[in-house]
Amino acid sequence: MPDASERVLVVGGGGFLGRALVAQLGGSWAVDAPSSAELDIAEPGAVARWMAVRPAVAVLNAACRQPGSPASDLERVNVIGADAVARAAHEANARLIHMSTDVVLDGRHAPYADDAAACPVNSYGRSKAAGEAAVLAAHRAAVCVRTSLIWDPNEMDRSTVSFAERLARGESCRLFTDEVRCPISRVTLAAALCELVGLSVRGTLNVAGAEALTREAFGRMMLQHFAVDGADRVESGRAADLPSRPGEARPADLTLDVSLASRMLSTPLHGVTDELRLARRTNG
Ligand SMILES: NC(=O)c1ccc[n+]([C@@H]2O[C@H](COP(=O)([O-])OP(=O)(O)OC[C@H]3O[C@@H](n4cnc5c(N)ncnc54)[C@H](OP(=O)(O)O)[C@@H]3O)[C@@H](O)[C@H]2O)c1
Repeated sequence: MPDASERVLVVGGGGFLGRALVAQLGGSWAVDAPSSAELDIAEPGAVARWMAVRPAVAVLNAACRQPGSPASDLERVNVIGADAVARAAHEANARLIHMSTDVVLDGRHAPYADDAAACPVNSYGRSKAAGEAAVLAAHRAAVCVRTSLIWDPNEMDRSTVSFAERLARGESCRLFTDEVRCPISRVTLAAALCELVGLSVRGTLNVAGAEALTREAFGRMMLQHFAVDGADRVESGRAADLPSRPGEARPADLTLDVSLASRMLSTPLHGVTDELRLARRTNG
């Protein structure tokens, strides 16, 4: 059995990012990655049982991020579960990397520094912001990684899959010209996280792609890259023109300042244009 100093516990290792992270960590660390059936982080006492292996580091990827999830599900996983993982990691003397999101920010004051105060404008953002606060209160040595849209040049992300499915059904689709994000490929993000596993970083840290893109530009790049049928039928529009429910706004510009992470990490935080160029070179 590997020494405890070489163990990493990945919570939510079966998700889109988690699978890439577990694969990359496996080269250097002994990785425990229970499925959500094996470990429900919101179940009292459940996390502590997995901390019994005394990992050096825990990575909390698990999240409820289905659009339209009820507030109770968001609270259960993103706040109560995150708090439980942070307390158990602290108790087990394991460092903690907690995956957070740019959606803890309001989209009106970009670019955002690493230590920008959370100011969420929708229920998902509020739950992740409360999760950050709970994690940092329970575990002083934790780092909350704020990232942006996660994608992969070799596998469609959930949002691109949804677009492809709607287009295949003949539905109309619209991409927003007034929302800006800093997408990062999961391979690059996983490589950055692998580096963070070996570093003692605390507080909040932006780790996202270095290229800020409108959702429209990013969406069209994905549709073209994956040669999605019907991509020419996708319209452009403004999210601001859509009606919104009270307390459920869409943040406009979530550009993250990634200069600190870029200095700290040797992994280049490629933007989408560079990552696609590299992927085309690799895939021939
Ligand atoms: N994807 C993005 O564009 C994006 C952007 C910004 C930030 N993030 C953050 O990055 C992290 C990873 O995102 P992702 O896209 O990889 O998420 P994902 O694909 O939805 O994966 C989430 C993982 O969490 C697990 N999980 C859910 N509820 C759980 C519970 N109660 N106990 C234990 N595990 C549970 C899921 O297991 P099951 O599949 O079995 O339910 C799944 O393995 C999240 O913290 C998310 O907030 C993602």
